[in-house]
Amino acid sequence: MFEHLEFPVIVAPMAGGPTTPELVAAVTSAGGFGFLAAGYLTAEALAAKVDETARRTGGRFGVNLFVPGGRSEVDLTAHRERMQVEARRYGVEPGEPHWDDDEYSAKLDLVVAQRVPVVSFTFGAPTTAEAGRVHEAGGRVVVTVTSPQEADIAVARGADALVVQGFEAGGHRALFTDDAADPAGGQVYGLLSLLRLIGARTSVPLIATGGLVHGADVAAVLAAGASAAQLGTAFLRADEAGTAATQRRVLAEGDRATAFTRAFSGRPARGLVNRVLSSLSVGAPAAYPQLHHLSKPVRAAAGQAGDPEAMSLWAGQAYPLATGGPAATIFGRLRDEARTAAARLDRLR
Ligand SMILES: Cc1cc2nc3c(=O)[nH]c(=O)nc-3n(C[C@H](O)[C@H](O)[C@H](O)COP(=O)(O)O)c2cc1C
Repeated sequence: MFEHLEFPVIVAPMAGGPTTPELVAAVTSAGGFGFLAAGYLTAEALAAKVDETARRTGGRFGVNLFVPGGRSEVDLTAHRERMQVEARRYGVEPGEPHWDDDEYSAKLDLVVAQRVPVVSFTFGAPTTAEAGRVHEAGGRVVVTVTSPQEADIAVARGADALVVQGFEAGGHRALFTDDAADPAGGQVYGLLSLLRLIGARTSVPLIATGGLVHGADVAAVLAAGASAAQLGTAFLRADEAGTAATQRRVLAEGDRATAFTRAFSGRPARGLVNRVLSSLSVGAPAAYPQLHHLSKPVRAAAGQAGDPEAMSLWAGQAYPLATGGPAATIFGRLRDEARTAAARLDRLR
């Protein structure tokens, strides 16, 4: 699927702002590939981005969809009260914590109708019938997995390739379920172990993701058997990314730890540690996307105030080493570094 790429680096879908048609197009033009993030957009807004990206890339791009999960009925009262305290700091009210399906069906209809060449799925696998619709439209199906058990499910449903997400990754863990039904029983895998375990049970191409910010990291996962590397954080500070100015600033400062939290969305995600992450993570219920809607006005108000302490600052573990500048320059640096790293392996010949 990505054999034709001169250097197999994919810019990850990054919902919530960072992904732009310009970013996808810049990486594609440089010789890579990119995914638009459909998450949180209306189907109508996605349609406009698909059109623009198709125009800018000559039709070489992918779209990433969030697979809706079950409706969690957990009690949100305590978390709601704690978020209310945060909201007061910014003079706003928390949002209504409702469940929705992110317009999944309408977005799937759209990517099928537009014959988007690669459709990736996160938070679950498409049904066999849904994967079949993408195939009938000439598209390829990619599913993000975090465990060998999820890989088996995805391949059985018709995945043509898997994004293998290690726990180093920035943003949400792509877990199929965030509850006791997790087929991996809560095991949290690092990228290299997971690549090896999944590569031992399937021959579909694997796309490695999580904590890769240097070309040597890309060379490492290719050496480990991956067909391509998908990088998110490495492009967060790219000129073409839609990353908020305050997030760019704290990423560049590079002095915060990262940690998993459910506090902002109700699903575990890795972000820079700030006040909300430190104080609201313990006891935050597994209730996605209810908590996403609850925290939305607070995150937005903090962003407008230029205050990072109540924003969801998603980033992978290696974020302090990510660089800014044009995406093509970042891509070129990664390629040069990967070549240097590959030359170091000559000693193994
Ligand atoms: C800001 C941000 C937003 C993200 N949004 C999405 C998304 O919409 N869909 C998705 O499949 N993955 C998303 N991810 C996860 C990436 O696909 C990928 O797994 C992650 O970026 C890899 O780790 P890295 O950030 O260290 O490169 C996001 C990651 C970040 C940092």
